[in-house]
Amino acid sequence: MGEAQNRRVVVMERGEPGVLQIRQEDLPEPGAGEIRVRTFVAGVSSYDVMLRGHWFPGQKPPYTPGEDVVGVVDKVGDGVSSVEVGQRVALWTFGDAGGYAEFVCTPADRAVPVPDALDSVDAVALVVNYLTASVAMHQTARVQDGERILAHGAAGGVGSALVQLGVRAGLDVYGTASAYNHELVRSLGATPIDYRREDFVAQIRDLTGDGVDVVFDVIGGGRQLWRSSKALRKGGRLIMLGMASAVKGGMKKIPGSMAVVGLVKLLPNGKAAPLGPGMEKYPAENMDWYRKTLAEFFDMAVGDKLRPVIAETFPLLEAARAHEFIERGGYAGKVVLTTDA
Ligand SMILES: NC(=O)c1ccc[n+]([C@@H]2O[C@H](COP(=O)([O-])OP(=O)(O)OC[C@H]3O[C@@H](n4cnc5c(N)ncnc54)[C@H](OP(=O)(O)O)[C@@H]3O)[C@@H](O)[C@H]2O)c1
Repeated sequence: MGEAQNRRVVVMERGEPGVLQIRQEDLPEPGAGEIRVRTFVAGVSSYDVMLRGHWFPGQKPPYTPGEDVVGVVDKVGDGVSSVEVGQRVALWTFGDAGGYAEFVCTPADRAVPVPDALDSVDAVALVVNYLTASVAMHQTARVQDGERILAHGAAGGVGSALVQLGVRAGLDVYGTASAYNHELVRSLGATPIDYRREDFVAQIRDLTGDGVDVVFDVIGGGRQLWRSSKALRKGGRLIMLGMASAVKGGMKKIPGSMAVVGLVKLLPNGKAAPLGPGMEKYPAENMDWYRKTLAEFFDMAVGDKLRPVIAETFPLLEAARAHEFIERGGYAGKVVLTTDA
């Protein structure tokens, strides 16, 4: 047997899922302050799909996608004492991507131990989506106990996290989803709204009277965000935190989205559209918060206080199938890649 090798998925050029290729090479070596993780599972997101298919701010080909990973520490670089070889850890790669790989080198301070009682697939679903939801809810929207919120895409990765964190924060939660996902959304604690068959603004008015305090909009696009602002009551906040509608449409959704956010800020109607802090930047710049909050999410999942929703798993080397699955839609929760490790 020769030396162990690393296989990773590479986006060779922007395009259809077939641009995802497998590259085999020597194992990466952790530098000072870094660890090498042997990947058990890697998260797939609609952001990965957008970036593969369209020009978007972020990585440029050739690159390996993937923001969240769970695996075992396989080697540590000089000066690392926070984690040990053999420990199972989860990590967010932040802007570096690189998660779709059998081995990943990363700064050691990004690694958060995973409790034995938590499955790796469940753990990886709690990283980017739940931390993003938490930043949006507590740092950007600054929700207060008893407020009403509307989470769009409530059965999706971020949306299902927003619903559950909202319920736990004592909020009255409404969520848009397709009818086939309503039972799930209800079981997570929100009142579902069928955005395909109903006008969600009218539905929110019917259900609440004067609207919600916060709309979390992961769908994006000018028309969508404008309608979201209409679902707010006076003093309400519109939080734009994603662009799920751009999986097919690409960058053309962005100018209209930004224009509406600007308009909501400017109009003297008592509504706001706070943008910061960056959903990814905040954890990266507050590493103690990142590690503590993720460890809390893991404990809550072990105690059945959070329920990560898993859509489907695919072998790492079949990442193209996972991207096709996301492009087709009609699923709920997180899509996860698994390795043989
Ligand atoms: N800011 C950050 O750092 C950050 C981090 C993570 C994700 N994001 C972004 O957040 C967005 C969502 O990510 P995700 O992983 O949650 O995606 P996802 O799991 O694919 O969920 C999106 C959901 O939106 C629903 N949907 C589609 N069109 C809709 C519409 N017009 N109205 C209401 N719901 C609609 C679909 O649900 P149904 O099947 O029920 O229709 C789908 O499940 C992406 O743009 C992603 O890039 C941002």
